[in-house]
Amino acid sequence: MRENASSIEQLSLEAPAKVNLTLRVLGSRNDGYHDLESVVVAVDLLDTLELEAAPDLTLTCEGAAVPDGDENLVMKAARRLAAKSGCRKGAHLCLKKRIPAGRGFGGGSSDAAAALIGLNTLWRTGLTRRDLAAVGATVGSDVPVFFGAPVSVVRGRGENVEPVDAAPAWCMVLAWPDFGLPTAEVYAAYDRLARPAAPPPAATQILGHLLLPARDVRALLVNDLEPAANVVRGARMDVRAILEKAGAVAVGMTGSGSAYFALADTEAEARRLVEKVRAAGAEAQIAAPIVEVPKQKEVSS
Ligand code: C5P
Repeated sequence: MRENASSIEQLSLEAPAKVNLTLRVLGSRNDGYHDLESVVVAVDLLDTLELEAAPDLTLTCEGAAVPDGDENLVMKAARRLAAKSGCRKGAHLCLKKRIPAGRGFGGGSSDAAAALIGLNTLWRTGLTRRDLAAVGATVGSDVPVFFGAPVSVVRGRGENVEPVDAAPAWCMVLAWPDFGLPTAEVYAAYDRLARPAAPPPAATQILGHLLLPARDVRALLVNDLEPAANVVRGARMDVRAILEKAGAVAVGMTGSGSAYFALADTEAEARRLVEKVRAAGAEAQIAAPIVEVPKQKEVSS
């Protein structure tokens, strides 16, 4: 197929999940959000978004129940792009979901970023990646990170994304319970909880240790939202305890939960953990950090 942007009628994009290796809350803001510092890694748990030129804007989803219509971040992103660019074209979007929702993997935000990138091509709106990330920031705090590098430091409420030229060597185990946690509720619980007296390590400290054995970084995997997520979770499944009982040596919570990750030094170790976590009743899957940003594929012209 020849490179000819005017002839692109169909596109397919991969939308990766993210894991917050670390997440520090630096303070609350007047606009109801919190200032963060977080090291975020994209992982190869992928949704797929297919886009096709069409007269109207429509969305179908496969693989999981996600809200349709304007409640879906993909539709919200598409409408914001149309408003920003003045484009009146439509598209049919088909979302194939694999990233579980409400677990802290940023799946909906990643899908929204993919929609912005794909529609920018399909509609030939000509916005830069930076423009698209700014539109994404109005859709959700987690959207801009998906315009960054596979490893990024995120600051502000999520809109300041600094790429990091490094890749972790670990294999990851992602583990999650059969319930999600509403982000706003976790932040509200965070505001009600007392702060620890001794501050834990800075979010960025992990960056100097991405190639160390998993065991050596366990104390750096701080997430300030974990005590609040535990309050919102109540007596429901404790995924950290399950991972640690299974023998995981370095465990962290991603985003505002409810999912956790464990770092493993070998794939064999990760596979053993996945089996034990599944036997204990949680969902688990092996994942690798992404080393290159997934590319968009032109399906046909
Ligand atoms: O931006 P998004 O809609 O994903 O945020 C959902 C909720 O999470 C916000 O309404 C806010 O309560 C909380 N939040 C926050 N600080 C952030 C990101 C999200 O307080 N940096």
